[in-house]
Amino acid sequence: MLCLKNSTNPGWIEAVKANLLVTISDHAHCEKKAANTGMVLINKYPEKSDLGFAMCNLIEEEIDHYRSVLKFLDKMGEKLSRDTGDPYARDLFTQVRKNEPGRFLDHLLVAGIIEARSCERLQILAEHIEEPELKAFYKELADIEAGHYVTFTKIARTYYSNEEVKQRLDELSEFEAKLVENLTNEPTMHG
Ligand SMILES: [Fe+2]
Ligand SMILES: [Fe+2]
Repeated sequence: MLCLKNSTNPGWIEAVKANLLVTISDHAHCEKKAANTGMVLINKYPEKSDLGFAMCNLIEEEIDHYRSVLKFLDKMGEKLSRDTGDPYARDLFTQVRKNEPGRFLDHLLVAGIIEARSCERLQILAEHIEEPELKAFYKELADIEAGHYVTFTKIARTYYSNEEVKQRLDELSEFEAKLVENLTNEPTMHG
């Protein structure tokens, strides 16, 4: 469960199974946006070299995931649909404080929480999707996204005290759990 305070509603996987192609396209966009989060962070905080090195690895991995999802679509004879946005991530980012030093901490922790939730949902996909290649892909990705959660929280502890990280992670995770509780089970990675 990493930092998560609740589990995804069981209705979500049913929506996904009924609209798997929509979920696959949305997943590609999530990987693209995860890579972009790394770019945004190194752009905002160029002087933080620990962050810079960690984000280089993360960006490479997320782009690799994006490429893999595109390959699945290609094999299926399908095209990537347009990015319809991610209200869950958008609502979570509203919690990032406007000023430093809290702003950087919140950005890292929100990114980490999104990785944790993505990991949980990839685990659910790996459990429920029958197609063997896709199943194996989701399982592999779940482990890597769990590693990204660790990356973000580890960077947070490089720049902030353990106590501060723990307390803020707890607050943001509470907020996230309420968001997830109220989701309407859309066939998207965070729906
Ligand atoms: Fe990823
Ligand atoms: Fe990730």
